[in-house]
Amino acid sequence: MLVQGHTPARVEQVIQETSDTRTFVLKPAARWTGFQAGQHANICVEIDGIRRTRTFSLSSSPELWAQQGRVTLTIKRLPGGLVTNWLHDNLSYGLVISLGEAFGDFLLPEPAQPVLFIAGGSGITPVLSHLETMAAQDFRAPVNLLYFVRTQQDIHSTFFSAAAPALSADLSGQILGGKVRFEKSGLETSSEGDASLLDMAEASGLTPRHGCRMGICHQCSCRKTSGTVINRLTGQHSGPGEESVQLCISIPHGPVTIDA
Ligand SMILES: Cc1cc2nc3c(=O)[nH]c(=O)nc-3n(C[C@H](O)[C@H](O)[C@H](O)COP(=O)(O)OP(=O)(O)OC[C@H]3O[C@@H](n4cnc5c(N)ncnc54)[C@H](O)[C@@H]3O)c2cc1C
Ligand code: FES
Repeated sequence: MLVQGHTPARVEQVIQETSDTRTFVLKPAARWTGFQAGQHANICVEIDGIRRTRTFSLSSSPELWAQQGRVTLTIKRLPGGLVTNWLHDNLSYGLVISLGEAFGDFLLPEPAQPVLFIAGGSGITPVLSHLETMAAQDFRAPVNLLYFVRTQQDIHSTFFSAAAPALSADLSGQILGGKVRFEKSGLETSSEGDASLLDMAEASGLTPRHGCRMGICHQCSCRKTSGTVINRLTGQHSGPGEESVQLCISIPHGPVTIDA
């Protein structure tokens, strides 16, 4: 049951929200460090002997964790999706999954300011946590929610798609692309333009671990052993030396070596 950096969390209740969406009420071991409304966490489950990690928002409020030591994940079956379907088919009362520490910066404004939430489908989950938290903390500012679903019956649809992260504007005139060597697999490839290291690795036949493909979940983090990359979200250049980079949002800036 022990996964490094993760905490065991026992399923206490499963609530069927709609035909394809369930809320799992979890009781993590007390060492779990908690979260702020709007954050997400990685969970890890073993399916057919292989550990799979996926990211989900905490849909409950931090108050529930503080008062009862419980958190909820509200999960929609993704057609063809491995983990979401496995969770729906297998995760029942008493079973244990691994829960990572919470992260993310979709947080409530402080001090209170007027808020407009715009959510589609299962993208409502962090907003649920926000709304419960606002109610519990007597949030003193107007709050509006625009919520979109596909059909009357379907109150949940997929929102967290893997859109390519937008290039930041200030990259014009910069050298993008370069020769990339994936050290462990002994593969070399090169790019001109804004292809990410993840795209390049996949085009070379590698299958690096990844999740969101948009710089959120950190599952694609890999060791860069040399060379400089540009973060396509911030436009920031990395240092030239050894460090961890997120493959999905890193564009080579000249020759780069990756420990993959
Ligand atoms: C920050 C964040 C928060 C999130 N919060 C929530 C939440 O609260 N609730 C929620 O329900 N979801 C949430 N998600 C989305 C959730 O993480 C995904 O639905 C989940 O990762 C899908 O995992 P899976 O194993 O079921 O699908 P995967 O098996 O990873 O498949 C993903 C998609 O790719 C397709 N696919 C898989 N393999 C192939 C292949 N070889 N060729 C072509 N297509 C393929 C599948 O059909 C599927 O459509 C969140 C995502 C992020 C990034
Ligand atoms: S795949 Fe999620 S951060 Fe890169």
